Amino acid sequence: MPSSTKPWIVITGCSSGIGLACAKRFVTEGHPVIGTFRDMQRAREIENELGDNFLGVHLEITKEPSIAQAVKEIERLIKDYGGLLGGIVNNSGVAIGGPLKYIPMDELRYQFEVNVFGLISFTQKLLPLLERGPAERKRRVINMSSVSGKISNPFLGPYAGSKHALEALSDALRLELSIHNVKVILIEPGPIQTPIWDKSIAVQEQYLHTEYAPYLRAVNHLIGVLKKNAIGPEKVANKVYVSWKKKSPKGRYLVTRQALFTGLFIRFAPDGVKDWLNKRTLRKVPQP
Ligand SMILES: NC(=O)c1ccc[n+]([C@@H]2O[C@H](COP(=O)([O-])OP(=O)(O)OC[C@H]3O[C@@H](n4cnc5c(N)ncnc54)[C@H](OP(=O)(O)O)[C@@H]3O)[C@@H](O)[C@H]2O)c1
Repeated sequence: MPSSTKPWIVITGCSSGIGLACAKRFVTEGHPVIGTFRDMQRAREIENELGDNFLGVHLEITKEPSIAQAVKEIERLIKDYGGLLGGIVNNSGVAIGGPLKYIPMDELRYQFEVNVFGLISFTQKLLPLLERGPAERKRRVINMSSVSGKISNPFLGPYAGSKHALEALSDALRLELSIHNVKVILIEPGPIQTPIWDKSIAVQEQYLHTEYAPYLRAVNHLIGVLKKNAIGPEKVANKVYVSWKKKSPKGRYLVTRQALFTGLFIRFAPDGVKDWLNKRTLRKVPQP
């Protein structure tokens, strides 16, 4: 049974990676945390690992009835155990890649359903709970974007499109929710060691019979290099926690050196230079 006077934090996608690291961090800092899962067996494992201050709730973010049920369950848990909701960490995400010439529309839609529409729908339904209590208390919506919310690379169009959309929606939401003293924060990590990489490469393999095969191999090779040099998800969890705690958080935080470099590069480099660099990457085709 959660026992804390600190505000509750809801985190989506706690089965692995960044969501799990965020859950661990907030629990370590003494917050009661509700994490969402698609696999409730995994939820029970994480509950056992993290102890009384962590509770798992089922959420399939692409399904409205599941969102409604999860929000109902979250409301019930917070009412039963007492306290107020202090933050929503919208972390759930998938990374779908592939050439836009061939990507099936249902896959492109699914990318946006998870990373954009589901996220906004879940947030909308939790906002009344976040807005409860004294106006001056801390209320945060923390959206897990990516450096792909700033730059769009070949064969990562679906993912980059969803994160660019999330950036635009979050900017609008930040201004709109300022009248309720809710701060909306974007976290923009570079490469982080999580299972998302392997899932993404697996999706791209279906295009290896097209004219893009050698280029996809080059991109997958590059993903392998980035993955090897990626840092642990704890660094992102730290940024999420620190941004939650700050009295006046910024609108967005880049995480990792690679992301900081990309952020600077995008700000100053003209499109021609960005394209030239991307095309150079595509030329480096490792022989099968
Ligand atoms: N890893 C990176 O390099 C990196 C960099 C920048 C940003 N990000 C962002 O960080 C976030 C977390 O990703 P991660 O890298 O930690 O990957 P991950 O370990 O694969 O975690 C993704 C989480 O999202 C959940 N999820 C996926 N589809 C869902 C759905 N339809 N409904 C509900 N939950 C769903 C997954 O649950 P299941 O286990 O059930 O699939 C999992 O818990 C994502 O938004 C990602 O875009 C990652």
